[in-house]
Amino acid sequence: MTTPTRPGFPHRHLLGIEGLSPLDIAGLLDRADEAVEISRQVEKKRTTLRGRTQINLFFEPSTRTQSSFELAGKRLGADVMNMSVASSSVKKGETLIDTAATLNAMRPDIIVVRHHQAGAVHLLARKVDCAVVNAGDGAHEHPTQALLDALTIRRNKGRIEGLTVAICGDVLHSRVARSNIILLQALGARVRVIGPSTLLPPGLARFGVEVHTDMRAGLSGVDIVMMLRLQRERMNGSFVPSVKEYFRYFGLDGEKLSLAKPDALVMHPGPMNRGVEISSEVADGAQSLIREQVEMGVAVRMAVLEALATHLPNA
Ligand code: CP
Repeated sequence: MTTPTRPGFPHRHLLGIEGLSPLDIAGLLDRADEAVEISRQVEKKRTTLRGRTQINLFFEPSTRTQSSFELAGKRLGADVMNMSVASSSVKKGETLIDTAATLNAMRPDIIVVRHHQAGAVHLLARKVDCAVVNAGDGAHEHPTQALLDALTIRRNKGRIEGLTVAICGDVLHSRVARSNIILLQALGARVRVIGPSTLLPPGLARFGVEVHTDMRAGLSGVDIVMMLRLQRERMNGSFVPSVKEYFRYFGLDGEKLSLAKPDALVMHPGPMNRGVEISSEVADGAQSLIREQVEMGVAVRMAVLEALATHLPNA
């Protein structure tokens, strides 16, 4: 996968998009493009991580992220262990730091972590000797989701610079929104954020985004419509009057999508709630990239693991 001319990835961990340069991001996307080709072949196995141990430590449920990290590690030749938090000593009161120290003693090379608290993955990275990848920490960051979204956009539009991307819905509780805002702006896209005022964090405008509380106005002329799930598990109280009302004003259906550019493309990180933030007609329609995002997820995670492997001992 690695070409001799590619600049190296200068980070030991991937904890967020914040802190990555446009060159770091573009380098990962280039690697991921190559990983897409590998994944489309009959023979998908590489030896980049042969002999390495990867632990997937997920304190929150996941379908896409955990399974794609497992496939990515295995395609690169690593021994991958999925740690089941539900049946671990975390349930008996073990702290995150003690769990980290215990896993560290088993000498893994890479730990992929999802945790419900923002900052937990950064804390864990300070307690272990191996590389750490953030697979989502609270409402803070989900860097590999933003990278796979960028890869999907770049492969379909041929560029990211100059595009207008609308990120719509529950931005307040969304780590996907935060990582995407940072990444898309770093690569030269214009970002609009659309949602009810109850689901928009205060001070959003200082991130350099355009803020809209009227979805129809916000979608006008955009190239990409990125929908977000209502994240009820992170909600403390009532943020929308009813699901029906929410869908009427902020759900993406064919009529609202027609206000974007005619060649606009629709994205959703998943899991989707059909009839809440997106209609089935749009989710399964010709403008939807949602299935392609899942494919790109494996490729991006292969690229990230490969990039971090260059810093492992005896690489
Ligand atoms: N997009 C995303 O993170 O999905 P999962 O929660 O299924 O991993």
